[in-house]
Parts: sequence; structure tokens; C-alpha cells
Amino acid sequence: MSIVAGMDDEITATPGGPTPEATGHRPVLLHPLIESLQPRPGQTYIDGTLGAGGYVAAFLERVHPGGRILAIDRDRTAVDLSRRRFTTTAVTAVQGDFADLESIAEAHRLGRVDGVVLDLGLSSLQLDDPVRGFSFRFDGPLDMRMDRRDDITAADIVNGWPEADLTALIRTYGEERFARAIAASLVRSRTERQLTTTTQLREVVERAIPRRFWPKRIHPATRTFQALRIEVNHELESLNAGLQAAIRIIRPGGRLGVVSFHSLEDTIVKNALHVAAQNCLCPPQQTHCTCAHRASLLLLSRKAIKPDAAELATNPRARSARLRVAERLDDAR
Ligand SMILES: C[S@@+](CC[C@H](N)C(=O)[O-])C[C@H]1O[C@@H](n2cnc3c(N)ncnc32)[C@H](O)[C@@H]1O
Repeated sequence: MSIVAGMDDEITATPGGPTPEATGHRPVLLHPLIESLQPRPGQTYIDGTLGAGGYVAAFLERVHPGGRILAIDRDRTAVDLSRRRFTTTAVTAVQGDFADLESIAEAHRLGRVDGVVLDLGLSSLQLDDPVRGFSFRFDGPLDMRMDRRDDITAADIVNGWPEADLTALIRTYGEERFARAIAASLVRSRTERQLTTTTQLREVVERAIPRRFWPKRIHPATRTFQALRIEVNHELESLNAGLQAAIRIIRPGGRLGVVSFHSLEDTIVKNALHVAAQNCLCPPQQTHCTCAHRASLLLLSRKAIKPDAAELATNPRARSARLRVAERLDDAR
């Protein structure tokens, strides 16, 4: 296919930054996603999590000619990269939160679409950039903002929140059994010196968890970093809002595909899809329906789709990925 130069004027590309090849990001569960959504020439899709553009590239090939993709990411780096990678008017890259996908679509003159994809979490672009502070593998500032226009960083939370709130955060969003010990240790450390780097945070967590309880497959700081990242970016609130917005904007017969990476995300996706696939939400003991809730989705797979052995062999990051897909039902049911 030929890709012609063209840019919408909302965001201009900045020179420099990583090329697609240099991002090292491998799209996860791409083949089952494409098989489930079946993009065709002339169709319009929203990718709410543009990242390094792996999904956009695959969808673009299939919706050509005449198709269109609105690609959204909270992270400016992803948008700038997309501008350099996709020099076609068929792709519109916009910085924003997928929770706002309806207003973003409206601003770009899109009505109902043939499908929406969400590939949650972080891209390698973000994880492998020390300056972003997402990873304990590198020394960097304790930032973790996907959208660097946001006010609150991970350092603000770690240095400013009361111990009880830190405990609750690390326990709830990190699913961390040593949350109380980690929070106490953070508060002790910060009274001596503010915590400003990923290394400081990593070391505090390492000290707070007795070595014999360190998890086998992940670093002991993984869960604490996850908890902070979720809070800094209001990830679960955005996910709830984004799923509802996606269900509303997909045309009847169109499809939704969501890839999640941990149980908190997958539980939200599973529940939202299951509720939207129900014809009645009345309590089971009630003999007749009074809720007037009607199904807006048909689940295309009861269980989440997992990566196969071949994908796991080439992409360890796919290990915890789960894909759920659903089809939009008619409005008047
Ligand atoms: C796993 S990556 C997506 C990778 C992409 N599918 C690809 O193939 O390159 C997730 C991306 O979603 C973005 N993101 C996460 N939550 C978001 C939200 N609420 N709104 C918009 N973008 C979000 C992140 O900034 C990140 O770039």
C-alpha cells in the first residue's frame, strides 16, 4: 500500500525521539485480535492505546483503501512517534485519555465506528526509558506519568501521602501482602531524605520485604511500582469509563477487543463485558424484571484468550496478557 504524507494540525511531530524499530515494542496477542475483529477495507477503528503503533500498523494494512484509524494515547511520545511512522491521512494520532474517546472522536468528525481496541498498561517505549521512572530496572526520577502534563508524580505520592493511605494503595493496586511494612519503611526513609528516584524506592521495598518472602518470578518491587503507576495515571477509573465509551461508540455488529496485563484490569474488563452482555440485572430472587437493562454486547469468547506457546517463546512480556472480545448488538433490542 502507498502511504501518503499528511498530518492533522492538532499535534505536530517533534524531531528526534525513537524510531519504531528502536522502540523494541512487540504488539501482544495481535493475531487473535485481528482474527476476532476482522478489520476490512473501508472500515474505521479507534485504537485507544496507540503505544508504538503495532496494532495501528496491522489494522491500517487491512482497512486500506478507504479506511481510517483514530489512534489515542495519553503519552505525547507515542503520538509523536506515530506521526513519523504513519505518514497517511488514514491515521489520526491524538494525545488524550481513552476515557474521553467519544469527545475525541467527535472532534475528529467520527460517528460510530467498526471497532475499538484497548491494549492496556505500558509500552516498551515507556518501560525502557529511564527518564519516565516506570521501571525499577533503571535509575530515574520517580515520575510514572503517562501524560507529563498531569500534576501528580509517583514522588508526590510516596513523599506526601499518610502511611495508612500508602498501605491501602500498595495493598489494593499492588495486591502486595507486605503493603504495611513497605508503607512504614517509606515513611521512615522519607523523614531522613525525600525519595526522588526509582532506585531509592526499589531499595526501600527490597529492605521492607524479608528475603525469604521475595517472589520467585518477579522482582519484589514490581507490585509497589504497579500500585503507584495505577494511582498516578488513574488507570482503573479511565478503564471503567473507556469501556463504557467504547461500547457506546461501536456500531451494531462492530467489535471491541481489550488486552489486559494484570488481574485488576482483567477483572474490570470481564465484569464490564459480562454486565453489558446481560439482558437483566435484577437480583436472581426477583421473579420478573424491573431493571429494563438490555444487553448491548455479545461475548465472542466466554474465557479470555491467552498467548500461545509460539508467542510466549518470542515475547516474554506477553506472559500475563489476556484478550477479551465482544460484538456490539443492535441498539433497539
Ligand atoms: C501496551 S501499550 C500499547 C501498545 C500498542 N498496542 C502497540 O502495538 O504498539 C499501552 C499504551 O496505552 C497508553 N495508555 C494507557 N492508558 C491509557 C489511557 N487511559 N488513555 C490513552 N492511552 C493510554 C500508554 O501510554 C501506552 O502507550
